[in-house]
Amino acid sequence: MSDYLTKVNSLRTTSILDVKSESPTVKIFTMEDRLCSKAKPGQFLMFWIPGIDEIPLSILDAGAGQVSVAVKKVGDATEHLHKMDRGQLVGVRGPFGNSFTETRGRVLLVGGGTGTAPLLFLAKRLAAKADRLSLVVGAKTRSELLFLKELDTVCTEEAVLTTTEDGSFGLRCLATEPLEGLLQKQSFNMVYTCGPEQMMRKVFDLAEKRRLPMEASLERLMRCGIGLCGSCVIGKYRVCRDGPVFNLSQLSEVKDEFGMSKLGFDGNIIPV
Ligand SMILES: Cc1cc2nc3c(=O)[nH]c(=O)nc-3n(C[C@H](O)[C@H](O)[C@H](O)COP(=O)(O)OP(=O)(O)OC[C@H]3O[C@@H](n4cnc5c(N)ncnc54)[C@H](O)[C@@H]3O)c2cc1C
Ligand code: FES
Repeated sequence: MSDYLTKVNSLRTTSILDVKSESPTVKIFTMEDRLCSKAKPGQFLMFWIPGIDEIPLSILDAGAGQVSVAVKKVGDATEHLHKMDRGQLVGVRGPFGNSFTETRGRVLLVGGGTGTAPLLFLAKRLAAKADRLSLVVGAKTRSELLFLKELDTVCTEEAVLTTTEDGSFGLRCLATEPLEGLLQKQSFNMVYTCGPEQMMRKVFDLAEKRRLPMEASLERLMRCGIGLCGSCVIGKYRVCRDGPVFNLSQLSEVKDEFGMSKLGFDGNIIPV
């Protein structure tokens, strides 16, 4: 193991500095951590909830000695975390994995659910670099649309296209539906996506058809976070070590699994 990996892989205990509700099911937690405060958009950390579990989370923001994550309540660990408050002790390892390539030119970001978190971090970094920053962001319902205010500020309001499945805000459809039209009307140099894997698979299919450069941030079951345990495999890759961000040609290599199947908790292959 390299000296750098040994250093970031050490578990640091830290206390929660701040907790904010972003939606009825998503909370933002901010901690002090020198190493994670240097993370780049796309990287993740392993978050230890004492006595409960350790879970992978994308980094929402980093800087000035602090790091933030947006956590959706979905099961045991995240439910416990949602009950925690300022001052309580947690642990972090990381930052792990690669990051999005920070490109110039005309950029399209496609986000769904908590996948919008790393895209907001990326959008903030790209704001000064990109010629144009457009965003399609989707959720099941209005209350689950995340970071709209921040995204409007970073991308300019008219460049943000919003979709909800129940039609309670923006277009009534999946985030991928307006994409085909958008890609026909406007030209882009790069597409970044993060969110439900079936959504990212559709973005990939559209990008592949047009030979458009793209990067997607993938999720798999993660335990070690450093490429040792094999629980996060996709094709020849380990998502924690070789990703979580994969480009078009890497995604083409794992087409049989991407958006289709993954390893479950018991080691069996399950649908995504
Ligand atoms: C690289 C990466 C980045 C992630 N970033 C975020 C983030 O920014 N915000 C966020 O809320 N969640 C994120 N996740 C997912 C998060 O890790 C899981 O939701 C969490 O581990 C669930 O734990 P639990 O005990 O609450 O739920 P469980 O009771 O363990 O499971 C509840 C549901 O979550 C799914 N799940 C469990 N573990 C994982 C896992 N390791 N990866 C993906 N799905 C899982 C299960 O299949 C199940 O459907 C990320 C996952 C990965 C791999
Ligand atoms: S989480 Fe262990 S190899 Fe990726």
